[in-house]
Amino acid sequence: MKTIHVPVRDAYDVMVERGILSRTGEIVRELCGGACAVITDDNVNAIYGDAVVASLEAAGMRTVRFVFPHGEGSKNAATLTQIWSFLCRNDITRSDCLVALGGGVVGDITGFAAATFLRGIRYVQIPTSLLAQVDSSVGGKTAIDLPEGKNLVGAFKQPAAVLCDPDALRTLPREFLIDGMGEVIKYGMIADEALFALLCGCDLSTVQEHFDEIIPACISIKRDVVAEDELDTGLRMILNFGHTIGHAIEAYYHYETYTHGCAVAAGMCIMTRYTGNADAYERLCECCKRYDLPTAVPAPLEGLLPLCSHDKKRAGGNLRYITCEPIGKAQIRTATFAEFCRIFGR
Ligand code: GLY
Repeated sequence: MKTIHVPVRDAYDVMVERGILSRTGEIVRELCGGACAVITDDNVNAIYGDAVVASLEAAGMRTVRFVFPHGEGSKNAATLTQIWSFLCRNDITRSDCLVALGGGVVGDITGFAAATFLRGIRYVQIPTSLLAQVDSSVGGKTAIDLPEGKNLVGAFKQPAAVLCDPDALRTLPREFLIDGMGEVIKYGMIADEALFALLCGCDLSTVQEHFDEIIPACISIKRDVVAEDELDTGLRMILNFGHTIGHAIEAYYHYETYTHGCAVAAGMCIMTRYTGNADAYERLCECCKRYDLPTAVPAPLEGLLPLCSHDKKRAGGNLRYITCEPIGKAQIRTATFAEFCRIFGR
């Protein structure tokens, strides 16, 4: 097992081990005790729900389970209210805990339920998608979406632990693997040239063989960033490389055409094309293509740039964006919206 300690105010460990899912019960009982509410979606429940519940029950924990329909459409106030009511009806108290079993949507909404129910109870993340394993399960960002936009209501609430099982990715549909690879490549770009080079030597059919190395490498980068800037007021912004334009791409296409990871990949390529050197741009595009990730989108820059001005990383009238020059070294830059548009010759 690889253990990555996250030294934030409420410190915790990310445990990476093949097969760790089957040891959920003993680990959660040791950390939290009490009873346990497993929150998951219908897709993940069908594959892992029974095994995780059985493991918790075998460890002697009273266990209840709440299952909601998969997809971003469930990450809203209505589902959150259902979760709160479910926890009340099942007598979950502050000495109990939640288990988030699933991808980013499950992790985000369960984390927010844990942050708010009874003014805060413990929760454990068990991420089952690549994107959740390398990114969203670590760092304590929790949220739900509003009709006005994604992740607009949330809280920082660190988990009591993250149990990361690379074997769970074997059942991951291809489009989710591609989605997660967008974020994996981002980690190489912002902080680890050697990781980037490794990714450039693999493709969708071979990369899983290297997950025991790649997943802890990504988590360690995220740990270092979060340890320095838990509340996202400075350095943590480098995790948003490719996201300023990526979010604009998602919004331009009404969240229907590009997954988050695909939009981020195109966002990283567009950003590097205009702010990096030609070699970095070419290497990044080559790498993205290996994972069937887009390197551009048909939408004109004139359509995307206005959407960048809504980015959450705004500071007053200024926009913050990330560049990686050279590969493996991120910089945070600040510009007025007009200056930002000039970078793209607009
Ligand atoms: N996913 C970006 C962050 O955790 O800050």
